[in-house]
Amino acid sequence: MAKVEHRGILLAGGKGTRLYPLTASVSKHLMAVFDKPMIYYPLTTLMMAGIREILLISTPEDLPRYRALLGDGSPWGVRLEYAEQAAPRGIAEALVIGEEFTGDLPAMLALGDNLIYGRYDFLRKAIDGDPEDAVIFAYRVDDPSSYGVIDFGTGGEVLGIEEKPANPRSHWAVPGLYIYPAGAAAEARRLAPSGRGEMEITDLNRRYLEQGRLRAHKMGRGTAWFDTGTPQDLLEAANFIEAIQRRQGLIIGCPEEVAYHQGFIDHDQLTARIEELPECAYREYLARVAEDLA
Ligand code: G1P
Repeated sequence: MAKVEHRGILLAGGKGTRLYPLTASVSKHLMAVFDKPMIYYPLTTLMMAGIREILLISTPEDLPRYRALLGDGSPWGVRLEYAEQAAPRGIAEALVIGEEFTGDLPAMLALGDNLIYGRYDFLRKAIDGDPEDAVIFAYRVDDPSSYGVIDFGTGGEVLGIEEKPANPRSHWAVPGLYIYPAGAAAEARRLAPSGRGEMEITDLNRRYLEQGRLRAHKMGRGTAWFDTGTPQDLLEAANFIEAIQRRQGLIIGCPEEVAYHQGFIDHDQLTARIEELPECAYREYLARVAEDLA
């Protein structure tokens, strides 16, 4: 099948109440996960999928901070646009907000508090499938009750998806990374608001399931997935990043490095970017990367 270009949507909305008072004056997705803002991780996940046009959605209060941090994306060879989610009306609303941006292309939607690390070939495989399908991923966790949970049949087919079930039917949680075909905004508009008044992403996924247009890819155990919703989650994710980075001397979620490896920027652009950075460990790391690649 011919490769189809995908647009990216990065959702960094909500109030992050479970992280209060950390989030009283700082947006949740700007919190540190060890040495960089949380949003760098899902941003680089989209870049690893080959996506170069990305819409970042956040609250009207927080958008200026994201613009200050990420700008227009040009140092990383990507184009970033920004849009407001005025009230926390659910994850599926991101597709409605991004309707014009995605146009008639499929979109990969990433939640700003989800961190995925490991082998990314599953992403490429998912993105290269039928562009008329919606794609979700499945990741085994010990306790899936605070996530969307997939019930698989014996042949690996999806039987159902439940949102935060008290008694989960499986250990397969749904990470905050989704692919939707063109027209997903129209599907999302047809959703009835849930009990908490939101356009639930699980309801949207169920619609695609009913239409026979939902695929679920299991992420292997060599991949790490963290959702950083609580202080414990945040600490666990930070400890994980610190341990791998220190052991390997390689940085996880570094947009400059990903941009270079993906061919979004060349060596001169990487060098120019490094010169813009203040003296810090991040700059020293990138200088080493640039030298190794020279
Ligand atoms: C959302 C989704 C849930 C998914 C999770 C992944 O939940 O509703 O299905 O498993 O993201 O992070 P939230 O964490 O926003 O409550």
